[in-house]
Amino acid sequence: MKNTVENLREAINYHNYRYYVLDSPEISDAEYDRLMRELKKLEEEYPHLVTPDSPTQRVGASPVEAFGVVEHPSPLLSLANTFSEGELIEWNNRIIKLLGSQHPTFACELKMDGLAVALTYVNGLLQHGATRGDGFRGEDVTQNLRTIKSLPLSVSKEAPPKFEVRGEVYLPVKGFKKLNDTRAAEGLPLFANPRNAAAGSLRQLDPRVTARRPLDIYIYGLGYAEGKSVPSSHLEIMEYLKSLGFKVSPYSKYCENIMDVEGYHSYWAGHRGDLPFEVDGVVAKVNTLSLQVELGDVGREPRWAIAYKFPAVQGTTRLINIGISVGRTGTLNPYAILEPVSIGGVTIRQAALHNAEDIGRKDILIGDTVIVQRAGEVIPEVVGPVVSKRTGQEKKFVMPSRCPECGTEIVKTEGEVAVRCPNLNCPAQVQERLQHFVSRGGMDIEGVGEKLIAALLKEGYVSDVADFYSLTAEQLLKVERMADKSVANILESIKNSRERPLARLIFALGILHVGEEMAATLARHSGSLDKLAGADTEELLSIPNIGPKIADSIREFFKEERNLKTIEKLRAAEVKLEEKTVDVGSLPLKGKEFVLTGKLEHFTRPQAEARIKELGGGAGDNVTRKTGYLVYGADPGSKLQKARSLGVKVLEESDFIALLEEASGQVRSGPDKSGLSRRAGSRRAGSERSGLSQSGVTS
Ligand code: IVH
Repeated sequence: MKNTVENLREAINYHNYRYYVLDSPEISDAEYDRLMRELKKLEEEYPHLVTPDSPTQRVGASPVEAFGVVEHPSPLLSLANTFSEGELIEWNNRIIKLLGSQHPTFACELKMDGLAVALTYVNGLLQHGATRGDGFRGEDVTQNLRTIKSLPLSVSKEAPPKFEVRGEVYLPVKGFKKLNDTRAAEGLPLFANPRNAAAGSLRQLDPRVTARRPLDIYIYGLGYAEGKSVPSSHLEIMEYLKSLGFKVSPYSKYCENIMDVEGYHSYWAGHRGDLPFEVDGVVAKVNTLSLQVELGDVGREPRWAIAYKFPAVQGTTRLINIGISVGRTGTLNPYAILEPVSIGGVTIRQAALHNAEDIGRKDILIGDTVIVQRAGEVIPEVVGPVVSKRTGQEKKFVMPSRCPECGTEIVKTEGEVAVRCPNLNCPAQVQERLQHFVSRGGMDIEGVGEKLIAALLKEGYVSDVADFYSLTAEQLLKVERMADKSVANILESIKNSRERPLARLIFALGILHVGEEMAATLARHSGSLDKLAGADTEELLSIPNIGPKIADSIREFFKEERNLKTIEKLRAAEVKLEEKTVDVGSLPLKGKEFVLTGKLEHFTRPQAEARIKELGGGAGDNVTRKTGYLVYGADPGSKLQKARSLGVKVLEESDFIALLEEASGQVRSGPDKSGLSRRAGSRRAGSERSGLSQSGVTS
């Protein structure tokens, strides 16, 4: 029996490792559950066969009154921080000077935003795990750490008889969001960020609570090892720990010199948002251990390592008031008016608040001190209040019952969180609709922006989207001081926009719930705007990905008298309302799989992929021998190297544009310049939300 139990245990531990550490399971979940049930059953029958490293022993021991204290045999140091290339180079110069003729090379790692722990293994078994604490003494959180599935409870007999590994416990972003959703549903306060959530989860007195939180861990160092020699460089040690069954970061990189470190930092500064967990910088470590020893520590920081941080993404400030903007489809969107705060070098004055329900859910009051977050290009958002800073003067937000722009009584559709102004002539909606029409993902009319539209509306030169096509030079000259040349350019780009593909026109019309991808589907299946307008619900529902909500909103749109009038005006202005239907089999990119990497200047990802698909090609995520083309933009990732090593054709953005032009020339017998503007600008398609995209942020 002992053998059966041991074999089962070994099998489960192996599959656990495949699943949680390597991310590459070999058996189904059902199969895994079956093994687990079998082991549980046997252990219940023969309790003397239970061992501390059995996978059944992870799921949460009984709660404790308080954590025990663990003295760290060697202190857990912290890292010196730097925020600029200049400071990084100074650090490099200092260590080069100290090392004399010995040239340091570096191991670069991501700086995980979680909390540090030290784990001690004795004779192959996890003996205890502790938080960093003050660096000298931490809290004994062994029972909680045992619930982290990627952490081995036992390691190979080959490992040193006693050793300590160090690493970062973190909560992946998905798990964090899910946890907050559940807490919101239960009326509990939300965690401000994944790090706080991870710390809160690990420092639970009841390990059963920890077991329900999807914590994970990356090991980033060896504290000490007794009784066996270990490799002599950091990266080799990481490989060694990996071979013992620990989860080590796959994102680490060997860097020959400080400029490579700079490159690693700038790459991840741009790609941090693609990671499934939060990072706040990179860590550069001198790779050779003997050089680390030689460099030693200053105070509580090693000289041989440095944290090179990314610009901050969160800050706190006061919520002065909550404003309301009206979106293109009439939604009333509350937004935060903030005391200006600088976050990562950008001054934030306004931030998104989503909807009234969200404000209530996050328990945000007017006058609160709030945590504000900005990430990449997305609109800054209010994460939540700092409740401890309340004075009692804060006020609850109430959604107005009338549209702040036109005074019409607002409506709430059942099943939707947003409230709407139902007045299609509401000036705010008209402005937003016109902006959406000319936006990049829409008809892409260069030179016509927010201000010009506002002026044209004021003069009464435009009132619906079709009016752009009857604008004259005199009118344009009258509303804005412009050179003749600019006026001519605007008129030219308006004229050219008449030839845009049907998908763009459908998107540009701004039908509720019809985004870029949906518009492409509708164009492909209908072939013309008239057919789409005439389709009944049943026909619409037969199109893939279209459900009743979208079908209804399309029907509503084409029932509206004003919209039909606009379409007639577009027809009269000779705007193309149909697509030549093409046989997919004959499309020029048929059978070609594209993979995109890095930041493209002229397209968003969905735009580039839509163009590829329009021409019969496919878009994938992984580079394999079957990949037709790898298209790369700024800061390409490892995919570029992989493509090169596999002999896959690589295209930079301009080659890609040329290829698309050539291919669309084959479809439409004449190159389609319409979909491809070569300029870089920031006129993106407006979302259904409005108001904040530019105005909230100033550099
Ligand atoms: S090395 C002496 N490597 O950053 C070396 N730390 O500010 C100290 N951290 O307490 C740690 N990712 O919690 C190291 N790849 C990484 C890290 C990392 C995150 C955290 C760790 C530490 C803090 C130091």
